[in-house]
Amino acid sequence: MYTTLSIIKADVGSIAGHVTPGSKLLDTISRHIANALDGLLTDYFLGTTGDDIAILMTHDKGAGNEEVHRLAWEAFMAGTETAKEQGLYGAGQDLLVDAFSGNVKGMGPAVAELQFEERPNEPFLMFMADKTEPGAYNLPLYLAFADPMNTGGLLLSPEINEGFHFRVMDVSYTQGDRVIDLNTPEDLYDLAALLRDNDRFVVESIRSRHDGEQAVAVSTTRLHNIAGKYTGKDDPVLLARVQKNFPATGEVLAPYSIAHYVSGFMRGSHIGPLMPVPHGTGCSYFDGPPIVSCFGFCVHEGKLTETTDLFAHPFWTAVRDRAAEKAMEMRRQGFSGPAMLPYTELEYGGIVHILKKLDKRFTVRAARKVAEPAGV
Ligand code: 13P
Ligand code: 13P
Ligand code: MG
Ligand code: MG
Repeated sequence: MYTTLSIIKADVGSIAGHVTPGSKLLDTISRHIANALDGLLTDYFLGTTGDDIAILMTHDKGAGNEEVHRLAWEAFMAGTETAKEQGLYGAGQDLLVDAFSGNVKGMGPAVAELQFEERPNEPFLMFMADKTEPGAYNLPLYLAFADPMNTGGLLLSPEINEGFHFRVMDVSYTQGDRVIDLNTPEDLYDLAALLRDNDRFVVESIRSRHDGEQAVAVSTTRLHNIAGKYTGKDDPVLLARVQKNFPATGEVLAPYSIAHYVSGFMRGSHIGPLMPVPHGTGCSYFDGPPIVSCFGFCVHEGKLTETTDLFAHPFWTAVRDRAAEKAMEMRRQGFSGPAMLPYTELEYGGIVHILKKLDKRFTVRAARKVAEPAGV
């Protein structure tokens, strides 16, 4: 049986700043989606992390289906109305156009979709990150799917040992989807050379080289490029099928113990550690730190099991403590050097205006002639 998993995620308003969406908003969206259960959808689940809401939908209509996308768009529109009624902050923040036109890609919400023939048992993970960008998943995916120091399965399982096929997108290109396909292990160094640059090159999908099956889909939207100005960080979602011909759940989770530094944090303009948190966690310190949560499921004939909250396990408490230390350490240096994003990545216009204004006040001193050394 072919099943499609579609996650469509947006921030349409939150309590107390960019913190958390609130239950009334979730109710509105949930009721809207539930109406589609007799017909369009087989099942659905709503997840929240920080100020974002992700709608996970299961159906048999394939990726990019107009009706499924329209349903999510209209649910977020209805949610925006609730957010406005309640006076939530940033109501409708990620809905960047007035009217739906075929597919929510390019309209603001983040989208990740996987279509596959269900295995007899089909475990998968849904990640949601807030206060960061899609490239935040680059390092964890590289380690989970290409590094035997993280993933013992690359040595121990014959199917996984055949390697993976990565598709990477250049998200700075705005004329279309600029992508490149690389195979691990032989293209490992080329892959690393691209994935080093989280702001520009983003893993879009990963397939097994054993059977061609897709393991991973990542939302690659850049709101900045769509809107032409800052509207909020992209706050990416990721779907990963796990076990058997793919890395195990624990191998996909393990890299998050690094709490690696990513772009985002306050005003989408700083660097902070990615803290793995239980779902429903809001943002706090310096509008962050950047957070990620992970919902685990099995899907059978399109029906979802209940979810398990993978970063709620006691193990992750120690990681969170370390991430908090890393966040404070970076924040100690305020705007200086790598604590704030480089000029080209700064999402808020303010600094651009300051530099333009100051540009006129610079003066150029005539270069002083340096005396040439004797004998030359
Ligand atoms: P299986 O049950 O799929 O053999 O998984 C074993 C495993 O992946 C433990 O990490
Ligand atoms: P969001 O992208 O999560 O809405 O956050 C925006 C922001 O500016 C936080 O400081
Ligand atoms: Mg927000
Ligand atoms: Mg957000």
